[in-house]
Amino acid sequence: MSQTPPIDRSEAARRSQTPYITSMAAYNAMCDEAARDYECFWARHARRLLHWHRPFTKVLDETRAPFYTWFEDGQLNASYNCLDRHMESGNGDKAAIIFEADDGAVTRITYGQLFLRVCRFANGLKALGLGKGDRVVIYMPMSIEAVVAMQACARIGATHSVVFAGFSAKSLHERLADVGAVALITADEQVRGGKVLPLKSIADEALAMDGCEAVKYSIVYRRTGGQVKWAEGRDRWMDDVAAGQPDACEAEPVGAEHPLFVLYTSGSTGKPKGVQHSTGGYLLWALMTMRWTFTARSDDTFWCTADIGWVTGHTYIAYGPLAAGVTQVMFEGVPTFPNAGRFWEMIQRHKVSIFYTAPTAIRSLIKAADADEEIHPKRYDLSSLRILGTVGEPISPDVWMWYFKNIGNGHCPIVDTFWQTETGGHVIAPMPGATPSVPGSCTLPLPGIMAAIVDETGNDVPNGHGGLLVIKRPWPSMIRTVWGDPERFAKSYFPEELGGRLYLAGDGAIRDKDTGHFTITGRIDDVLNVSGHRMGTMEIESALGSHPLVAEAAVVGRPDDTTGEAICAFVVLKRPRPIGDEAARLAGELRAWVGREIGPIAKPKEIRFADNLPKTRSGKIMRRLLRSMSKGEEIAQDISTLENPSIIEQLREST
Ligand code: WT7
Repeated sequence: MSQTPPIDRSEAARRSQTPYITSMAAYNAMCDEAARDYECFWARHARRLLHWHRPFTKVLDETRAPFYTWFEDGQLNASYNCLDRHMESGNGDKAAIIFEADDGAVTRITYGQLFLRVCRFANGLKALGLGKGDRVVIYMPMSIEAVVAMQACARIGATHSVVFAGFSAKSLHERLADVGAVALITADEQVRGGKVLPLKSIADEALAMDGCEAVKYSIVYRRTGGQVKWAEGRDRWMDDVAAGQPDACEAEPVGAEHPLFVLYTSGSTGKPKGVQHSTGGYLLWALMTMRWTFTARSDDTFWCTADIGWVTGHTYIAYGPLAAGVTQVMFEGVPTFPNAGRFWEMIQRHKVSIFYTAPTAIRSLIKAADADEEIHPKRYDLSSLRILGTVGEPISPDVWMWYFKNIGNGHCPIVDTFWQTETGGHVIAPMPGATPSVPGSCTLPLPGIMAAIVDETGNDVPNGHGGLLVIKRPWPSMIRTVWGDPERFAKSYFPEELGGRLYLAGDGAIRDKDTGHFTITGRIDDVLNVSGHRMGTMEIESALGSHPLVAEAAVVGRPDDTTGEAICAFVVLKRPRPIGDEAARLAGELRAWVGREIGPIAKPKEIRFADNLPKTRSGKIMRRLLRSMSKGEEIAQDISTLENPSIIEQLREST
């Protein structure tokens, strides 16, 4: 790897046309431009920032609202934009990914090497008969290979659907079946925090269930060399798929609306929804936000600690940093192994300049640093840092200040980025150099994002008043539909009650009376946020309900110092309410059950047993009451409408 990247004139030229936002006046001017001529604003950026195999002539099409399309007659390829462009501009020798394994082993891969690996593997996929329009599920650990797999799918026009490798066989199966996958890419094993997890055997279990007969191939990245069972004909080693394939693989041009990926996320009701993203609009915003929010420059070393199984790992690992041509760090392990100084040590070792993580990680590392001087961030040289980011949940002002002082040494702006799986990239976030960073606030919408706060009927509320967070106009990187369920898409995100044209984020928010800065107040639906992971209460309830002993279950979230929210389940068994050791044993069994049904992240922190759940006379579970009880609050609600008031004592007792 050459230390100094060669001067890249084409990149410099592209940059000068799409400047960073360098002042509040520039920010305001861009917002004005977007307000004045919305389509022109987006078209200008899309033309300048992306390489189009065929230029678009149409910008936004609203005729099938809320099924909006962007740049629809244009053609491009996401992988071409992330890789080929850097080859053409002479940056093939620049480090693309610095991968650090769980045990600390470091692998560097240049843009040129990554390009080659993506091309060979893409050719291998084609040789198996895979191509444009096919869906490929990726169930892999954090690895260069996972990025190769995603990029290779994009290269041949296959739509990938990454499933977080912490999900159970059942969850994986559900997604394989729903998305109609023809191939699965997995690994023999996964290594995190010194522990080995058998990924392939979980994948085998998922494939053995009814409903994914369409999956012809299971492609396996050999991570550990551990023992695996092998299905002849179906199973292939990832290396063998790529072996002997030509070094070049022409990137398949696809329409701008072609689904680049489907990523499942939890809603308030029913099964997880497959959020479908486009190629053109999505990639455009991945790149623009790298510049606007992170102010990424070609000499940055960027590190996003998210897993590729979540949207953050899509936009800010697999696509954004590569499209922007920066060097990025990728990490296989966990922040607490071999000790809780791992993040700080890695920032020091790799001279990370932009660091992006979740408040939940910071909270747990604060505790660890307080408990052990040895791993306190002041022990590490963090002077390479210039921008810090957070994502996934609100960051409280005290945690923000700790991050600012101890990690950023009091001079790195913090970007508290609000966004969602559905928004594709940041929508509300500070823009360092232009807009301020404020503890406890994600501040202002990025130019072009028409975020607002409205009441239950869709009318704007004045600053200083809480309401529903909406986005008033479609934007390029927005969700296109829910895979296989367009009705659910329209109903969940463009509800009739708000007039059917406002994108409803599902969060409450409030704007500061004076500055207009946004603060997110949390979900307004039955979606929980546990350690930055999004989970539907219904999913957990139905997992509990499928246990043979369970008659009924209700799940609520309660505030938790470390995980943000903790899952608290109220359970009625088909047998008398267990007490003492029996209750503890059954709670353990139910937790393990939920772990197997959904994944360890969905295990309730607390389970309380009762003879019944508090219900209204019309049979509705009084969740608000359960929420108060889970927090140990006095019951402030009116319980006169309760069918069975005596149950309250019992639920309280079981604390
Ligand atoms: C939900 C989306 C965005 C990628 C990771 C999560 C919450 C996200 C913030 C923030 C307060 C936040 C919201 C949102 N959220 N970022 N900066 N401040 N809350 O994506 O799994 O789709 O979850 O995460 O509640 O709706 P996701």
